[in-house]
Amino acid sequence: MKNSRILFLVAIVVSLLGPMACSQQPTLSSSPQPGSGQNSNTEKGYEDLIIGYAQLGAESEWRAANTISIKETAEELGVELRFLDAQQKQENQIEAVRKFIVQKVDVIGISPIVETGWDEVFQEAKDAGVPIILVDRRAAVPEDLYVSYLGSDFLEEGRNAARIMAYLTNGKANIVELVGTIGSAPANDRYTGFREILAGYRGMKIIDSQSGDFTRARGREVMAVFLQKYGNKITALYAHNDDMALGAIQAIEEYGLKPGVDIKIVSVDAARGAFEAMIEGKLNATVECNPLLGPQFFELALKVVNGEPIPKWVPSIESIFFPEDASEVLPTRKY
Ligand code: AHR
Repeated sequence: MKNSRILFLVAIVVSLLGPMACSQQPTLSSSPQPGSGQNSNTEKGYEDLIIGYAQLGAESEWRAANTISIKETAEELGVELRFLDAQQKQENQIEAVRKFIVQKVDVIGISPIVETGWDEVFQEAKDAGVPIILVDRRAAVPEDLYVSYLGSDFLEEGRNAARIMAYLTNGKANIVELVGTIGSAPANDRYTGFREILAGYRGMKIIDSQSGDFTRARGREVMAVFLQKYGNKITALYAHNDDMALGAIQAIEEYGLKPGVDIKIVSVDAARGAFEAMIEGKLNATVECNPLLGPQFFELALKVVNGEPIPKWVPSIESIFFPEDASEVLPTRKY
């Protein structure tokens, strides 16, 4: 890795440690809930678990990897998994949670599609003694309505994307932004974190910001509209995920500009497609967001069922990748 990259990453790690050390330390909660197994005399094993999982959909490469991780881990561990795909609709996710409550599963895992609107159904789960673990995405509900959140620090991902963008553009850029699903935790936090850092750079301006719904197709469509509107004025693109960045890369090439050169591009996820784009020189950096949450999820679920204390937040450990390292890293990527 080049020295400049190492220095840059050290700077980011130092900035990461500050806030994590002060305010974002995971707190311990014993998560006692009726039906959680806390009162049983015999400890349960993975083969005893019945888990309901309300996945939000299949919108991206990231989500596909996340689903595979949950399903494969359940199979490996011998857990009985009841998996429902809500196909990008909150009402379907709510219905799935209600089904799992009726079925009296041991634990419900859910990646809430948006942050709000969960209080009622989570309260129903709590009243029925079925603990909820939030996986990948947070929900804006009181902390007593879920036992743990397992997932990324999306705010920090947004901050890191802005730090990298400032580095790549020497602090001077006209940025367009492809936002994720409106109202989702990653879209909200990646939007906010990015702006927090940009506030320190006078020369970096966001000239437009629209949702591409975390999909490749929408990323391409919205980027084409940005290009029609602003043409060569655009010097940088911030995409809230790799899929939208890859769609946008197509639109930029169709418009006749060089992605990664005429327009610097930073995205989030670090999926295989992003590494391929970096190798081709079309993407300048990707901030990792780890979807391989299956093993940690079932470990947490087992602890909950056995009444063991678990952290209220289990943050994923994540990195940042640049084109220089892409060829070496790609063969090791699992998603
Ligand atoms: O919640 C994680 C986000 O959801 C990923 O960044 C995105 O690719 C996915 O669809």
